[in-house]
Amino acid sequence: MRWLLWIAILLTACSASTQEPEPADLKWAESSRPANVQLAERYERSCMACHSVNGTGAPLAGFAPHWKPRLDKGIDQLVRHASEGFNAMPAMGQCNDCSTDDLRALTLFMARSGT
Ligand code: HEC
Repeated sequence: MRWLLWIAILLTACSASTQEPEPADLKWAESSRPANVQLAERYERSCMACHSVNGTGAPLAGFAPHWKPRLDKGIDQLVRHASEGFNAMPAMGQCNDCSTDDLRALTLFMARSGT
Protein backbone atom coordinates (compact mmCIF):
# COMPACT_ATOMS: atom_id res chain seq x y z
CA MET A 1 0.00 0.00 0.00
CA ARG A 2 3.04 2.24 0.10
CA TRP A 3 2.49 3.24 -3.55
CA LEU A 4 -0.86 4.72 -2.61
CA LEU A 5 0.87 7.11 -0.28
CA TRP A 6 3.26 8.15 -3.05
CA ILE A 7 0.42 8.81 -5.44
CA ALA A 8 -1.25 10.94 -2.81
CA ILE A 9 1.94 12.93 -2.26
CA LEU A 10 2.50 13.41 -5.99
CA LEU A 11 -1.07 14.53 -6.57
CA THR A 12 -0.83 17.04 -3.74
CA ALA A 13 2.44 18.39 -5.12
CA CYS A 14 0.96 18.74 -8.61
CA SER A 15 -2.21 20.52 -7.58
CA ALA A 16 -0.26 22.88 -5.33
CA SER A 17 2.17 23.83 -8.09
CA THR A 18 -0.61 24.70 -10.54
CA GLN A 19 -2.01 27.22 -8.06
CA GLU A 20 1.28 28.95 -7.24
CA PRO A 21 2.70 31.32 -9.87
CA GLU A 22 5.97 30.22 -11.49
CA PRO A 23 8.84 32.71 -12.02
CA ALA A 24 7.58 33.22 -15.60
CA ASP A 25 4.14 34.21 -14.28
CA LEU A 26 5.68 36.71 -11.86
CA LYS A 27 7.79 38.14 -14.67
CA TRP A 28 4.72 38.52 -16.91
CA ALA A 29 2.88 40.36 -14.14
CA GLU A 30 5.79 42.74 -13.54
CA SER A 31 6.67 43.48 -17.13
CA SER A 32 3.37 43.43 -19.07
CA ARG A 33 1.26 46.48 -19.86
CA PRO A 34 -1.92 47.01 -21.84
CA ALA A 35 -1.13 47.83 -25.49
CA ASN A 36 -3.07 51.10 -25.35
CA VAL A 37 -0.73 53.86 -24.06
CA GLN A 38 -3.31 55.74 -21.99
CA LEU A 39 -4.58 52.51 -20.47
CA ALA A 40 -1.01 51.40 -19.72
CA GLU A 41 -0.40 54.68 -17.89
CA ARG A 42 -3.56 54.22 -15.77
CA TYR A 43 -2.62 50.62 -15.12
CA GLU A 44 0.89 51.52 -13.92
CA ARG A 45 -0.41 54.24 -11.63
CA SER A 46 -3.19 52.19 -10.00
CA CYS A 47 -3.85 48.47 -10.52
CA MET A 48 -0.20 47.44 -10.68
CA ALA A 49 0.58 48.31 -7.06
CA CYS A 50 -1.48 45.33 -5.94
CA HIS A 51 -2.13 43.17 -9.00
CA SER A 52 1.45 42.81 -10.28
CA VAL A 53 2.78 41.51 -6.96
CA ASN A 54 2.00 38.02 -5.76
CA GLY A 55 0.77 37.58 -2.21
CA THR A 56 -1.05 40.92 -1.81
CA GLY A 57 -4.42 39.14 -1.82
CA ALA A 58 -5.17 40.60 -5.23
CA PRO A 59 -5.45 38.14 -8.14
CA LEU A 60 -2.10 38.27 -9.97
CA ALA A 61 -2.21 39.91 -13.41
CA GLY A 62 -2.02 37.32 -16.15
CA PHE A 63 -2.15 34.33 -13.83
CA ALA A 64 -5.11 32.28 -15.03
CA PRO A 65 -5.64 30.16 -11.87
CA HIS A 66 -6.27 33.38 -9.91
CA TRP A 67 -8.70 34.76 -12.51
CA LYS A 68 -10.58 31.70 -13.75
CA PRO A 69 -12.89 31.32 -10.71
CA ARG A 70 -13.56 35.06 -10.78
CA LEU A 71 -14.31 35.15 -14.52
CA ASP A 72 -16.84 32.39 -13.87
CA LYS A 73 -18.90 35.03 -12.01
CA GLY A 74 -19.18 36.96 -15.27
CA ILE A 75 -17.19 39.96 -16.50
CA ASP A 76 -20.00 42.39 -15.62
CA GLN A 77 -19.83 41.48 -11.94
CA LEU A 78 -16.03 41.81 -11.93
CA VAL A 79 -16.24 45.26 -13.48
CA ARG A 80 -18.92 46.26 -10.94
CA HIS A 81 -16.65 45.09 -8.11
CA ALA A 82 -13.73 47.00 -9.61
CA SER A 83 -15.91 50.11 -9.77
CA GLU A 84 -17.63 49.87 -6.38
CA GLY A 85 -14.91 48.05 -4.45
CA PHE A 86 -14.89 44.51 -3.10
CA ASN A 87 -13.33 43.56 0.28
CA ALA A 88 -9.71 44.79 0.12
CA MET A 89 -10.17 45.85 -3.51
CA PRO A 90 -10.60 49.65 -3.35
CA ALA A 91 -13.38 51.34 -5.34
CA MET A 92 -12.14 52.29 -8.84
CA GLY A 93 -8.88 50.48 -8.02
CA GLN A 94 -7.52 53.88 -6.96
CA CYS A 95 -7.88 55.14 -10.53
CA ASN A 96 -10.10 58.18 -10.23
CA ASP A 97 -10.03 59.05 -13.92
CA CYS A 98 -10.80 55.51 -15.11
CA SER A 99 -14.10 55.12 -16.94
CA THR A 100 -16.13 51.93 -16.62
CA ASP A 101 -14.81 50.95 -20.04
CA ASP A 102 -11.26 51.44 -18.76
CA LEU A 103 -11.97 49.25 -15.72
CA ARG A 104 -13.42 46.61 -18.02
CA ALA A 105 -10.42 46.74 -20.37
CA LEU A 106 -7.97 46.63 -17.45
CA THR A 107 -9.80 43.68 -15.91
CA LEU A 108 -9.79 41.83 -19.23
CA PHE A 109 -6.10 42.62 -19.62
CA MET A 110 -5.24 41.23 -16.18
CA ALA A 111 -7.41 38.18 -16.79
CA ARG A 112 -5.64 37.87 -20.16
CA SER A 113 -8.86 37.56 -22.06
CA GLY A 114 -8.53 40.55 -24.34
CA THR A 115 -6.75 43.88 -24.93
C1 HEC B 1 -4.82 48.60 -3.04
C2 HEC B 1 -4.70 47.38 -3.81
C3 HEC B 1 -5.47 47.23 -5.11
C4 HEC B 1 -5.46 48.09 -6.20
C5 HEC B 1 -4.73 49.41 -6.36
C6 HEC B 1 -6.31 47.46 -7.21
N1 HEC B 1 -6.81 46.27 -6.75
FE1 HEC B 1 -8.12 45.02 -7.70
N2 HEC B 1 -8.14 43.78 -6.10
C7 HEC B 1 -7.41 43.96 -4.94
C8 HEC B 1 -7.68 42.86 -4.02
C9 HEC B 1 -7.07 42.67 -2.64
C10 HEC B 1 -8.62 42.02 -4.67
C11 HEC B 1 -9.25 40.74 -4.13
C12 HEC B 1 -10.52 41.08 -3.36
C13 HEC B 1 -11.18 39.82 -2.82
O1 HEC B 1 -11.41 38.88 -3.60
O2 HEC B 1 -11.50 39.79 -1.63
C14 HEC B 1 -8.87 42.63 -5.97
C15 HEC B 1 -9.74 42.10 -6.91
C16 HEC B 1 -10.01 42.67 -8.13
C17 HEC B 1 -10.95 42.15 -9.10
C18 HEC B 1 -11.81 40.89 -8.93
C19 HEC B 1 -13.13 41.23 -8.26
C20 HEC B 1 -13.99 40.02 -8.09
O3 HEC B 1 -15.22 40.17 -8.14
O4 HEC B 1 -13.49 38.90 -7.92
C21 HEC B 1 -10.93 42.97 -10.18
C22 HEC B 1 -11.75 42.84 -11.46
C23 HEC B 1 -9.97 44.02 -9.89
N3 HEC B 1 -9.43 43.81 -8.65
C24 HEC B 1 -9.66 45.03 -10.78
C25 HEC B 1 -8.77 46.08 -10.49
C26 HEC B 1 -8.44 47.13 -11.43
C27 HEC B 1 -9.01 47.24 -12.83
C28 HEC B 1 -7.57 47.96 -10.78
C29 HEC B 1 -6.93 49.24 -11.32
C30 HEC B 1 -7.81 50.23 -11.90
C31 HEC B 1 -7.35 47.42 -9.45
N4 HEC B 1 -8.08 46.27 -9.32
C32 HEC B 1 -6.54 48.00 -8.46
C33 HEC B 1 -6.56 45.00 -4.65
C34 HEC B 1 -6.32 46.09 -5.47
